[in-house]
Amino acid sequence: MAKQPVRVLVTGAAGQIGYALVPMIARGVMLGPDQPVILHMLDIAPAAEALNGVKMELVDAAFPLLKGVVATTDVVEACTEVNIAVMVGGFPRKEGMERKDVMSKNVAIYKSQASALEKHAAANCKVLVVANPANTNALILKEFAPSIPEKNISCLTRLDHNRALGQVSERLNVPVSDVKNVIIWGNHSSTQYPDVNHASVKTPAGEKPHFLPSTEDLSFTSLIRLHGEFITTVQQRGAAIIKARKLSSALSAASSACDHIRDWVLGTPEGTWVSMGVYSDGSYNVPAGLIYSFPVTCRNGEWTIVQGLPIDALSRKKLDLTAEELTEEKELAYSCLS
Ligand code: NAD
Ligand code: LMR
Repeated sequence: MAKQPVRVLVTGAAGQIGYALVPMIARGVMLGPDQPVILHMLDIAPAAEALNGVKMELVDAAFPLLKGVVATTDVVEACTEVNIAVMVGGFPRKEGMERKDVMSKNVAIYKSQASALEKHAAANCKVLVVANPANTNALILKEFAPSIPEKNISCLTRLDHNRALGQVSERLNVPVSDVKNVIIWGNHSSTQYPDVNHASVKTPAGEKPHFLPSTEDLSFTSLIRLHGEFITTVQQRGAAIIKARKLSSALSAASSACDHIRDWVLGTPEGTWVSMGVYSDGSYNVPAGLIYSFPVTCRNGEWTIVQGLPIDALSRKKLDLTAEELTEEKELAYSCLS
């Protein structure tokens, strides 16, 4: 029997990530090749004409899985009955703006969109926040949509996770598909901690369960490079893309958003974890009440934080540093609300 269509909201759909993301969703990249979808696209009034152009292109592309398109500037219409919400819309930092000004604009947007989702989305709607500051926007959304289970609200650090996989692959000259179980801890910002201590690389002799201690077949210099500027390369990758493209990452962000939702809904492969920004329950002594990126596995539409990984002293400092930044962001966000 044919599956019922899933309604997927993309906010900021007339923007550059939106333009890369909506065809991926309509092709089944996010939810699978047999899952029909109805796309809900929201943007603000100045972008209404461009949004309508995206809708026209979706019609022109004749995607077999696409069973309908709602393109609107009305947040209630956009949120009604959606099963999945990918929140890409937000206010960008402009010249001369202080951090607090940007935070204040985004806090207001996420507060009002939280209420619309809470009132109008389908029960058990899963939410992914992409727009920056992604972790704190997700936290505000959680606070103002109290009837949406906190386990259903997440932010995107899968792009950073994929960047880390890509860097290991490049540096060790192995296919990216043979690398797994890197971790992004913390904030989607330059304080994030890309951690390869528990990663593994498939080799002809089998998988190396613990990447660093058991990689005698990898050269010493590649390990140094991996552990040296590897961390800063991943932390600074977003800025490097902006420098190169004069625009922030879009295709990789869209593709990673699809990976995030696909693994959340359909499950992570056996023995593999991914990174997701989720509500901290205090695991790994990360303060409870932050949206923090952890290693997670997903089964039956639910994520679970991977427990029991040993954390060395250097990693501990890095986990704490990014938690401190998130605590400061949370305070700043709350000060914008009062
Ligand atoms: P963009 O400026 O091209 O598009 C943003 C869109 O959001 C615009 O069309 C704008 O009109 C719309 N918008 C603004 N306010 C809105 C509102 N209240 N409701 C609905 N739509 C609204 O930006 P982009 O390159 O697509 O990036 C979008 C966001 O994603 C930015 O905040 C960016 O920093 C962030 N980002 C996050 C990651 C990540 O990994 N988490 C990666 C890349 C970019
Ligand atoms: C990215 O990681 O590519 C973006 O978050 C960068 C940005 O500031 O939009």
